[in-house]
Amino acid sequence: MNDYITIALTKGRLAGSTMQLLERAGYHCDELKEKGSRKLIFVNEEQKLRFFLAKGPDVPTYVEYGAADIGVVGSDIIMEENRRVYEVLDLGFGKCRMCVCGPARAGELLRHHEMIRVTSKYPNIAREYFYNRKHQTVDIIKLNGSVELGPIVELGDVIVDIVETGSTLRENGLEVLEEVCPISARMIVNQVSMQMKTRRIREMIANVRDCLE
Ligand code: PRP
Repeated sequence: MNDYITIALTKGRLAGSTMQLLERAGYHCDELKEKGSRKLIFVNEEQKLRFFLAKGPDVPTYVEYGAADIGVVGSDIIMEENRRVYEVLDLGFGKCRMCVCGPARAGELLRHHEMIRVTSKYPNIAREYFYNRKHQTVDIIKLNGSVELGPIVELGDVIVDIVETGSTLRENGLEVLEEVCPISARMIVNQVSMQMKTRRIREMIANVRDCLE
């Protein structure tokens, strides 16, 4: 498998944008376009490329352990997972914001550094933000999705989550209370692959960089 460059893509919206960018940069995979396929690995024999789709939080894991040489994943996940990988490019798509959100009245609790409950898919980011940046002690509860439910059913006071269009918040009577950081898709590289497959990986990074808008 050493002849191949293996690329882990994040399932969903990011995968489409990633393949569009890679195609502009001259890297293709027709197998990925076959509709309704249950295949897990997609190969371009000619260019010696292998692709697979994974859940976002698993992408840095595959890359750290070298199961993938390269991964494309949101910077939210890179921060949350904190894996030993090289982050080599900001790809400029998948843009959104990591925010503290809640009902307007929760703004007061934040201002007065009250002991609050935070629900989030991102407990490490929430901990880093509240403990290290704001010096506020909070109770963090990990959820796996539909985090906006937290304040609505009174599991917590606020959420730490990504906001893209803001429509999920609006439809649920919540708002952005504080911004943690901007988010976008990044290319990450396995540290050993970077040494062992230097030429091909550096060439790919350069070709992709040239195609960024
Ligand atoms: C994400 C995020 C918000 C929503 C934000 O959820 O957790 O719920 O998108 O997008 P918006 O600002 O455009 O409304 P996702 O769709 O990934 O599903 P999940 O809630 O199951 O994690």
